[in-house]
Amino acid sequence: MTDAAGPLVLAIETSCDETAAAVVRGDGVVLSNEVASQVLRHRPYGGVVPELASREHNLALRPVIAGSLEQAGIALADVGIIAATAGPGLASSLLIGHTAAKALSLACRLPFYPVNHLEGHLWSPFMGGAGPPRPCVALIVSGGHTLLVAVEGYGRCRMLGTTRDDAAGEAFDKGAKLLGLPYPGGPELDRLSAGGDPEAFAFPRSMVGSGDHDFSFSGLKTSLRYRLEKLSPAERSERSADLCASYQAAIVDILVEKAEAGLRTTGSTCLAVSGGVSRNRLLRTRLQEMARKSGFELLLAEPDFATDNAAMIGFTAALKWRHGEETGPLERDIDPNLKLMDGR
Ligand code: KG4
Ligand code: ZN
Repeated sequence: MTDAAGPLVLAIETSCDETAAAVVRGDGVVLSNEVASQVLRHRPYGGVVPELASREHNLALRPVIAGSLEQAGIALADVGIIAATAGPGLASSLLIGHTAAKALSLACRLPFYPVNHLEGHLWSPFMGGAGPPRPCVALIVSGGHTLLVAVEGYGRCRMLGTTRDDAAGEAFDKGAKLLGLPYPGGPELDRLSAGGDPEAFAFPRSMVGSGDHDFSFSGLKTSLRYRLEKLSPAERSERSADLCASYQAAIVDILVEKAEAGLRTTGSTCLAVSGGVSRNRLLRTRLQEMARKSGFELLLAEPDFATDNAAMIGFTAALKWRHGEETGPLERDIDPNLKLMDGR
């Protein structure tokens, strides 16, 4: 079905522990966005267990695809393009969605777009009516990546900086684990911080003012561990909210300062923020305050498009279609270490 809105894209995302499918119109309008979360399956292990994740993807994928078609009010016969995440991510997870998508493409004789998961995050702030990709500084903060990118337009990006050790989401999750919070720790830390004093404990803001655009979070995590070792079990539990708030404030300070530095050095007047960590309430508030004060345009991925989802994969495939990019050969495999660009 091709009309002014373009063909309908059926997109599949299974790079980690969310089984997701979405229908996106060729003009970028999202018609459905289904996500089956595996959080409760992995929680007892304190992190994602790859074999469990792929088994769950296998079980969930068919109903999730059916749900996404139903939610969009269309049949498989209406779909014009198939897309799936090709990397980066867990090999055994990526393979499930990617293989299913290629099988659908073959069976339905439809073109197939393999999509870089990081590119999905990169363009997600432009979903939901924010207009086409335009010049900006993009901050991608997820569980596996922390990237600062200078975007000139679609397909014209330059890496400014990345993390030298842990990703921002990892810093949240590892810190939360030290604090005894359940997996995934980021949202829990966000929730508990609300009742705490962000200045109660002093944690380092590594590489702030370093003059480059790289990030580092491992020192912060170590500092939390040492701090906790000095507290009694009773003090730890009494001061839990203060510890959460102080630790969160350090991560957010680093992200805000680096984003600001990116805008300063590029002279850009637009900041686009994406990835699971961009759901963090303090980060969103701080960036909104900064945008108001400094007068730059702030594009924050909508919460449903910030954590892993298939709509951002479909949206990216729709961008590829609009830019006349070639569809992928079905022989191409997944790449668990796929980079956004320039080998980073
Ligand atoms: O983008 P995403 O869903 O998956 C990856 O591509 O990695 O990001 C997941 C990360 C996890 O580390 C999770 O703890 C973090 O995003 N996250 C948060 C919040 N919601 C999700 N971190 C801080 N505050 C939140 N509210
Ligand atoms: Zn992601």
